[in-house]
Amino acid sequence: MSQKVITLLNEARSRELTAISQYMLQHYELEDQDFGKLAKKLKEVGIQEMKHAEALAERILFLKGEPTSKPDAVAKKGQTILEMLQTDIGLETQAIKMYNEAAAVCAAEKDQISKQLFEKLLGEEEGHLNDFENVKGHLEKMGDSYLATLAG
Ligand SMILES: [Fe+2]
Ligand SMILES: [Fe+2]
Repeated sequence: MSQKVITLLNEARSRELTAISQYMLQHYELEDQDFGKLAKKLKEVGIQEMKHAEALAERILFLKGEPTSKPDAVAKKGQTILEMLQTDIGLETQAIKMYNEAAAVCAAEKDQISKQLFEKLLGEEEGHLNDFENVKGHLEKMGDSYLATLAG
């Protein structure tokens, strides 16, 4: 089995660990500011990223590698809602780029299962990106009146 693929799986896992800590932090911050609906959304996405991190770990273990426990960046604190969304859009965009490239490397290394895993994650990251872009778009268009709909 390819060490290259194990390294890619671990790079992806580090990204997921960053996303988990970022989204859960935003979940707590938004909850604290009474933006309950948006807080709930961040929690849901955070839990999906936990499942991604776990799926990557399982594949790494199957390939006899060692799953990393290190995030690749530190979560940003104290951002405005618009800044949070920009951070999240950045994380998802980078993940999509990396997972597309990783799927191609897995194909070249003849590891179809790892390739399929990256493709599955890719589909879900595209969904996250779309959700975050929608919220950001509404916020930019409607401002405070949209913010009020995120409370609860
Ligand atoms: Fe993910
Ligand atoms: Fe994501």
